[in-house]
Amino acid sequence: MAATAITSVPQGAHDEMEQWEEFLVGRYKEGKSEQEFRQYDAEANPGVAEFYRLNHQHQTFDYVQQKEKEYFSLNKGKKSIWQAAEFLNTLVDDSDPDTDLTQIEHLLQTSEAIRRDGHPRWFVLTGFIHDLGKVLCLWGEPQWGVVGDTFPVGCAYSNQIVFPEYFKANLDLNHPVYSTKYGIYEPNCGLDNVHMSFGHDGYIYEVMKPYLPQPALAMLRYHSFYAWHRHDAYQHLMNDHDREMLEWVRKFNPYDLYSKGHTKPDFKQLKPYYDDLFAEFFPAEIDW
Ligand SMILES: [Fe+2]
Ligand SMILES: [Fe+2]
Repeated sequence: MAATAITSVPQGAHDEMEQWEEFLVGRYKEGKSEQEFRQYDAEANPGVAEFYRLNHQHQTFDYVQQKEKEYFSLNKGKKSIWQAAEFLNTLVDDSDPDTDLTQIEHLLQTSEAIRRDGHPRWFVLTGFIHDLGKVLCLWGEPQWGVVGDTFPVGCAYSNQIVFPEYFKANLDLNHPVYSTKYGIYEPNCGLDNVHMSFGHDGYIYEVMKPYLPQPALAMLRYHSFYAWHRHDAYQHLMNDHDREMLEWVRKFNPYDLYSKGHTKPDFKQLKPYYDDLFAEFFPAEIDW
């Protein structure tokens, strides 16, 4: 089905997204040595480093508040899940058809890997929808504001966030409250009460809130929060619910990172299964 009202697809959007995703897979490659780990620095990855420089500079508490106001009321219209996925697919240009997987193919590879491992249907569904928030790109949001690691704002930035040195250019670093350990938050207030840097994760979480169980929502909201789910940062903001959810987020992460294969999923053959799955959890169209 045709995607609606795309004004323009940002130039290079897909390339940067791919670069970031390849960087993540490399950064968290299983069984990687310390030496290999260090290769994931600015010199080895100038494009990714530049991307994070912009992200860390601009993701301030004020920026996040402004974007939450703009998007979290879900006033971008109604779309079915397939329409959102098709819309997202327009991000892929036709420059290199045999190496690039489309966004829908990445979603299907993730969800099919979850399905093969016998996980519940809501988990398979979460695999399919987890990156649909990238539709933000098509509404003109910059790459650094759509993808990339996410982290709390309104309190001190952790050293466990990738390229922490780039926070030097972030205005909140000198803010009397936002620069402190707890910032505007209470100790162990729970991550539900914490504002996260703006991106596709937080946005898809808002879209899906009425429809999915808590572990699914945690997987959506925190799947790029690597400082937390890989590096144990921000324990001081966690409550018991977060500790329970962390296990689920960790269960999800390998499917996101490592399910990419070279065989393209057979969309036609899989479609009926997903039609049923969407009908089980969603009305025909939902608010975006
Ligand atoms: Fe993602
Ligand atoms: Fe993903």
